[in-house]
Amino acid sequence: MDKILELQNLHKYYPILGGVLRREVNAVKAVDGVDLDIYRGECLGLVGESGCGKTTAGKTMIRLHDPTNGHVYYYGKNGGPEGRLDLGFTKRSALKKLGIRGRLQMVFQDPTTSLDPRMLVKHIIAEPIKEQVSLPGRDLEDRIVRLLKLVGLTRDHLLRYPHEFSGGQRQRIAVARAIATDPEFVVLDEPTSALDVSVQSQILNLLRSLQETLSLTYLFVTHHLLVVKYISDRTAVMYLGKIVEIAPTEEIFSRSVHPYTHALLSGIPIPDVEHKPRRIVLSGDVPSPVSPPQGCRFHPRCPFEIERCRNEEPPLEEVSIEHKAACHRKSEVEKLVRKKFGNQVQ
Ligand SMILES: Nc1ncnc2c1ncn2[C@@H]1O[C@H](COP(=O)(O)OP(=O)(O)O)[C@@H](O)[C@H]1O
Ligand code: SF4
Ligand SMILES: [Mg+2]
Repeated sequence: MDKILELQNLHKYYPILGGVLRREVNAVKAVDGVDLDIYRGECLGLVGESGCGKTTAGKTMIRLHDPTNGHVYYYGKNGGPEGRLDLGFTKRSALKKLGIRGRLQMVFQDPTTSLDPRMLVKHIIAEPIKEQVSLPGRDLEDRIVRLLKLVGLTRDHLLRYPHEFSGGQRQRIAVARAIATDPEFVVLDEPTSALDVSVQSQILNLLRSLQETLSLTYLFVTHHLLVVKYISDRTAVMYLGKIVEIAPTEEIFSRSVHPYTHALLSGIPIPDVEHKPRRIVLSGDVPSPVSPPQGCRFHPRCPFEIERCRNEEPPLEEVSIEHKAACHRKSEVEKLVRKKFGNQVQ
């Protein structure tokens, strides 16, 4: 499979300013050394508790944020004329000139805040197209109507404002805007979590069918594991700025090895009919990303921590083909879970 993005040791820190001179006194280490390959045509799920750095990672990989350190390599289609490009170190003007900005898009969690309430739908969708090409009015309108149809809306919706729509329809408009520039890669940042349960599955189905029709690659960010199970081919689990486990989605659900992944799966609110329930219940809050714990950053909450975990950070290493985890005890976790929590655990 061809890579579309390759993240190497990616960092994004937000400075904390203090004192009279407003100097940088510390930093929120939102993304703190992420290595990740994303393949063309896949849907990669990114899961983890609130505040673990998912949105920041998504924004940094499409250069909505500048990385603090590390690399985001973008690979053009079929090798592409631009070959491999380091997005973090390419001038924004050059990204625009090469047409790369429009190829990488994002859909945000809440369409109520992501769509400008003073703009007509027609102008909301026209805006990113105009940044890319100059089209005569008629052609522009035809293109917008085609986009509206793709997301299940019609020409009648062109001259309306966002507040005239339901939540689900507003998210359809946000999706139309994101696909307006014919992107290759879209970050979907919790695209259904602000919606009523009844419309969530409609939007998920729309996203799935668009992925197929338009040959899109997705990063699907969510804290909801059942959504990931439904939509993503592979799943990456993030904890305090780092990826702690990554595998094909089926394997995450059936053979996860990281204690944090086990704990997330324990939190699924409805019984998982295929796999028996796990019993690791997370205690305590996520530690502050300003000063993450030494060694394994999950150790203050991990039921299996040993001395090594407090001193040495575990690298993200192969467990089997396509499956990696960052845990010193990864080969024993299954056994440890059984021993500690009994035979309800599979
Ligand atoms: N613009 C910002 N300035 C300062 N800190 C931020 C900013 N955006 C996010 N953060 C902090 O970075 C950390 C990761 O946030 P975020 O990427 O939004 O996580 P998630 O999407 O997983 O909830 C959090 O501690 C959050 O408070
Ligand atoms: S390295 Fe140690 S503390 Fe970290 S997840 Fe593994 S067992 Fe738990
Ligand atoms: Mg977020």
